[in-house]
Amino acid sequence: MSASVLTAVAWPYANGPRHIGHVSGIGVPSDLFARYMRMSGHDVLMVSGSDEHGTPILVQADKEGLTPQQTADKYHRVVAEDMRRLGVTYDLYTRTTTRNHYAVVQELFLAMYRNGYIVPKTTTGAVSPSTGRTLPDRYIEGTCPICGYDGARGDQCDNCGNQLDAADLVNPKSRINGETPKFVETEHLFLDLPAFTDTLGEWLASKTDWRPNVVNFTKNLVKDMRPRAISRDLDWGVPIPLDGWRDQALKRLYVWFDAVIGYFSASVEWARRSGDPDAWKRYWNDPAARIVHFMGKDNITFHAQIWPALLMGHNGTGDKGGEPGPYGTLNLPTEIASSEFLTMSGSKFSTSRGTVIYVGDFLNEFGPDSLRYFISAAGPETQDVDFTWDEFVRRINFELANEWGNLVNRSVSMANKNVGAVPRPTRVEQADEDLKALSRKAFDTVGEHLRNSRFRAGVGEAMRVVSAANKYLSEQEPWKRKDDPERRDTILHTTLQVVKDANTLLTPFLPHSAQKVHELLGGTGLWAAQPEMHEVKDLDDPTREYPILTGDYKAEQARWESTPIEVGLPLDKPAPLFAKLDPELGETGPEWAPIQK
Ligand code: MF3
Ligand code: ZN
Repeated sequence: MSASVLTAVAWPYANGPRHIGHVSGIGVPSDLFARYMRMSGHDVLMVSGSDEHGTPILVQADKEGLTPQQTADKYHRVVAEDMRRLGVTYDLYTRTTTRNHYAVVQELFLAMYRNGYIVPKTTTGAVSPSTGRTLPDRYIEGTCPICGYDGARGDQCDNCGNQLDAADLVNPKSRINGETPKFVETEHLFLDLPAFTDTLGEWLASKTDWRPNVVNFTKNLVKDMRPRAISRDLDWGVPIPLDGWRDQALKRLYVWFDAVIGYFSASVEWARRSGDPDAWKRYWNDPAARIVHFMGKDNITFHAQIWPALLMGHNGTGDKGGEPGPYGTLNLPTEIASSEFLTMSGSKFSTSRGTVIYVGDFLNEFGPDSLRYFISAAGPETQDVDFTWDEFVRRINFELANEWGNLVNRSVSMANKNVGAVPRPTRVEQADEDLKALSRKAFDTVGEHLRNSRFRAGVGEAMRVVSAANKYLSEQEPWKRKDDPERRDTILHTTLQVVKDANTLLTPFLPHSAQKVHELLGGTGLWAAQPEMHEVKDLDDPTREYPILTGDYKAEQARWESTPIEVGLPLDKPAPLFAKLDPELGETGPEWAPIQK
């Protein structure tokens, strides 16, 4: 088996159901990569989970009158269920409120602290003048000093996505009673980012093969490295494992500090659940392993700067040196595949603005593969994309249904009607060889694209094989060759072989229909595996239970190669693969997300 590949997928906040923008930039791309890597023989571990701390959860909890834990419980299940139905093949989709996560986060924190990369500093914090009590960041609202948005919160601005300090807000107000908070001195813990200037700077400078958007972004980041607060005045988060801090009700680790460590803690949890508690080492301690991150562009800072700095601090490889923690030297990210935004009529997909298309609704009406296809072919891979129903209808009807669905249907029907099985090729001509050569070659070109997270190009090349096969059928006209069954059968055999190849090429993109096509072509057993939801006990606290996603991906047959179709395999009359959409949908949108005129 070739070197291990960790597919590290950004953790969605458990503060509501996910919209299609989220899976367009993160869920689907990461799954395309993981499925392809598995099919091509790599040892893949794909981890993620729900991000359950921080202001986003607290704000939602307030809105719904739930506790933060109840809120996280509720939406963790919803998000996990969406991802399961979409077919995202996590080896483990877990959550950040597990005891394992808390313990691993604290362990890594302590290693960084011992190496001197985490330092206490006095800053200003808000206090309510009327009660004299600490006012948590999320309860302060004001105008963003960066973009001028007037609904910015004390810890971050939802409009421009920047992390803020409550003291920097213009015109700060308490959200509880509207009074102007008083700012007093308070102690916080800081990541000493300046102590990574040389080491992180050099490491980033060596990443010349990263996508240009990430490279350019990180160049600017290292120019201005200031200490960064990693604790917050909150009562919801991972406690700080230091004397004098651990028992303070309103001091917790900052949500981003614990969330990025989730990539590692989830790998440890997966290993513990797998029966081989050291299995995570293949991905994290072996220098030959690769770690590929998938995220939206608003997450680049945390993955390309903060997370590598945390790892260097833990490993003792920042400018101050040090010793690795108990997990040994942990690997740094190999690649950062960051996507752009899916917008709707120009505005960023955002629940607060009401332009929302939920994944669950979408799956109910259109099923997983049409969404996966749309995202692969037209998603926000390298630039922002405006989602329109019109474009969705066109892609599904003209590409998925007319091109691929029809090819499968025509070829299997004709073989079924004339032979009842995969016909024998007895009179091969050059055109047949040419077509088969084209589809065999596509394994290299499509594979190369998928390996490099170029999903649009990958699906485009796979669909070129489909178009070539359709063209071949129209030119060869097997339906007109009643008097020449040998040639007819050879044409049908060639077409079925290319359908089988194309189905393999399309498996990462369309895993649910790939299973169907596998069966239409006479195949049996599991072709493309799907994730499953399991209810499990917390490994360190059997009183807690939660759902995870996992799967037996080794059981699938799909391999990234052309395999000969077996002559004589019985073929049934096929049912249509994709339903065509009513063109009116392009003008009106569905009932649950009507186009606003
Ligand atoms: N929850 C964050 C967001 O939605 C992403 C966290 S990625 C993590 O923007 F790795 F840090 F978890
Ligand atoms: Zn802003």
